[in-house]
Amino acid sequence: MSRSGDAVGVGLIGFGTIGTGVVKVLQRNAAVIEQRLGFPLNLVRIADLDTERDRGVDLSGIRFDDDSDGLIADPHVQIVVELIGGSDVARRLIQSAIDAGKHVVTANKALLALHGKEIFDAAARRGVDIAFEASVGGGIPILRSLREGLAANRILSIHGIMNGTTNYMLTEMERTGEPFEVVIERARDLGYAEADPSFDVDGIDAAHKLTLLATMAFGAEFTFKEIPIEGIRCLAPVDFEAAREFGYRIKLLGIAKARAGGDGAEGRIEVRVHPTLIPATSLLASVDGAMNAIAVTGDAVGPTLYYGAGAGELPTASAVVADLMEIAREIRRGSAGRVAPLSYMPHRIQPKSLVPLGELVGCYYLRFTAVDRPGVLAQITSALGDHEIGIESVIQKGRGAAAESVPVIVKTHPARELAVRGALEIIDRLPDVTAPTCLIRIEEGL
Ligand code: NDP
Ligand code: HSE
Repeated sequence: MSRSGDAVGVGLIGFGTIGTGVVKVLQRNAAVIEQRLGFPLNLVRIADLDTERDRGVDLSGIRFDDDSDGLIADPHVQIVVELIGGSDVARRLIQSAIDAGKHVVTANKALLALHGKEIFDAAARRGVDIAFEASVGGGIPILRSLREGLAANRILSIHGIMNGTTNYMLTEMERTGEPFEVVIERARDLGYAEADPSFDVDGIDAAHKLTLLATMAFGAEFTFKEIPIEGIRCLAPVDFEAAREFGYRIKLLGIAKARAGGDGAEGRIEVRVHPTLIPATSLLASVDGAMNAIAVTGDAVGPTLYYGAGAGELPTASAVVADLMEIAREIRRGSAGRVAPLSYMPHRIQPKSLVPLGELVGCYYLRFTAVDRPGVLAQITSALGDHEIGIESVIQKGRGAAAESVPVIVKTHPARELAVRGALEIIDRLPDVTAPTCLIRIEEGL
């Protein structure tokens, strides 16, 4: 790698899956990066706890040790890349890099979703850039699209498959009928899953990403813990089969919508993560494996869709290195802070209320587990009717032996979620209903 005097110096903290990808992309594409920038990026130092493991990359000319603080203080390092993950050490290191006047690139959505305000405020005060394209959608340039390509629009809605691990798992569970425990191990082996994979399967990672997207889309300040989040643990093989029969596929979606008031400037916003039935004919329904896709509708542009690898070594590194290039250009031009990182000027990011789930109106997929006995279906439909919930279709799977439970699946007409919850409270207490009902929201019009 060139050590030309014009080079911008980079220090990498965290030499794991994505860190290794960053080194590979910087080395493999050094020539094209220099042709595009007009000067090289120089990876000066790497720090990681484990300095023994062979990552299969050439480290000649790069100082590699476990001294993250030394890396931050190194005068040859102008941009610090944080790729260790987590919210504790990473938070301290990023803060310390900002304090030292270093620009920062990170893929750490968990940290930014929980402590973004403090970090962005500190960076603005110190006059340094913080770039985080890889934190949402892996290699897809979705943040840059929201911030720049769609900057003229009031954003109306975002619907996204934004967790590669769960999309891979849902695709495999649907394709092979294999259980959750088997497919999650494969997702871990492929390097998609978070250090704690419950972040993926419980929808937390998708909600971290949605926090960033909704903030940028609507200029909205809200806290991560306000977001309703449901993961994919409740899904059973029969759900994929029934969804297909109804004409849908099941995806874990992050959804953000502006209510009355256009971009949410005056109104409230919907921000939620949950498994969702989406029409099998929609573009999002065809997104399989670890791929991500984020549909954004703007008032002027209409619907747009961004698709690509949402996780993995090289796709994520692609976004990290693009951020390095953007910051390096700004360092050269002396114009750090050219674009507000969260897309709105910081003082224009205003607190917004989130619409409670109970107020949602839509169609619902309900899987009841009930003893296969005459009259049970009548009790269920009567409770739904008492709450003014109309039934569009019913499927009963299998024929149980005496006193055996079977799934009874209902697709409702549009109903208010509060009413659906009220009906389920009654139904789940019926003597012949033997397990809590699985509720999946249906999102039409995608
Ligand atoms: P890895 O666990 O593969 O890599 C993290 C690396 O950081 C490990 O080598 C780890 O060392 C090292 N590390 C941990 N703590 C420290 C520390 N205190 N000082 C120095 N090094 C440390 O994670 P990923 O590469 O997968 O993820 C990195 C970040 O990128 C995370 O924020 C993640 O959410 C994000 N991300 C990941 C994607 C993916 O597909 N994997 C996609 C998009 C974003 P050791 O192994 O010894 O603990
Ligand atoms: N665990 C995350 C995913 C990595 O599966 O999408 C990418 O952010």
